[in-house]
Amino acid sequence: MNILAIETSCDETSAAVVKDGREVLSNVIASQIEFHKKYGGIVPEVASRLHAECISLIIKDALDRAGKETKEIDAIAVTYGPGLVGSLIVGVSAAKALAYSLKKPLIGVNHLEGHIYANFLEGSSDSMPGTLDASFPFITLLVSGGHTSLVLVKGHGDYETVGQTRDDAAGEAYDKVARFLKIGYPGGPIIDKLAKEGNPDAIHFKRPMIEEEFGLDFSFSGLKTAVVNYVSRLPDPSSLIPDLCASFQAAAIDVLVEKSLKAAELYKCETIALAGGVSANSALRRELKAKAEAKGLAVHIPPFEYCTDNAAMIGAAGHYKRDHSSFSLSPVASARI
Ligand code: KG4
Ligand code: ZN
Repeated sequence: MNILAIETSCDETSAAVVKDGREVLSNVIASQIEFHKKYGGIVPEVASRLHAECISLIIKDALDRAGKETKEIDAIAVTYGPGLVGSLIVGVSAAKALAYSLKKPLIGVNHLEGHIYANFLEGSSDSMPGTLDASFPFITLLVSGGHTSLVLVKGHGDYETVGQTRDDAAGEAYDKVARFLKIGYPGGPIIDKLAKEGNPDAIHFKRPMIEEEFGLDFSFSGLKTAVVNYVSRLPDPSSLIPDLCASFQAAAIDVLVEKSLKAAELYKCETIALAGGVSANSALRRELKAKAEAKGLAVHIPPFEYCTDNAAMIGAAGHYKRDHSSFSLSPVASARI
């Protein structure tokens, strides 16, 4: 089954053709980062206008690169939320128009489900892991710019959120710290790179909510403030930037990894999957793998190119939604993530 997938929830206009939920025939992404960079974050009105300008071209490009004509497409999958309303509406309108005119089924996909299903996609390079053949249940550490949660995946479309952030998402903390340090946007990849030149033990930032009493919940707002307070006391913070990045990142990752291991133990899962934009982080990928494997747990990390927002992951989730009889198509059930 070939699914044409569309993703416009934030600042990437993306369309993909995915075969049988695993094989990515094409995955075209038009990033708007250059347009938002100067504001240090996404401007919603600008985002939706840019989506509207290029959505048709991106869809056509995805079909061309996949070598498929519309008659070879079996269904259209589209992200319906969560995300920026003005951005979502562009993708949903395009998908509805296509489904109506081509007389194909329309499958609404929750963006967070999409991130989880990035784990089921085949990677394009040999160094990347293959598809997730996890036997359910498994724990997903879902870390993006808008969300941070631990999701127990009991089967296709059967999720339970067992922990989540009480304030900022992990990616949001990366972006805010980077904005404060004036090192660029988006902060995640920049901090990831600079941290490699710094010492993670240079500054000890308290690991937020790591204590037993907080269970599987997270908090990243205080960590961001701790970095801000520390830097405000320095006469010249510029020379310390790599150490600050490495130390901030070490604190964030310690908590993410620790709670993922705890969740796997509590819910008797043998596999932990990573998902969301922050799963592109090199230190998180390394630390989670090392610590989980030391406990005999398997770790699955999506192919690098499907960690941040893309339509291929929406195509994968759409495939299982369409194919799996027990998979709920109800937006209410999906929104529980
Ligand atoms: O999943 P995503 O593309 O969009 C949302 O659904 O939010 O995630 C974007 C987030 C941003 O906060 C970005 O800074 C972060 O993912 N990110 C990273 C890395 N690459 C992207 N964070 C840490 N390390 C990275 N290498
Ligand atoms: Zn995302």
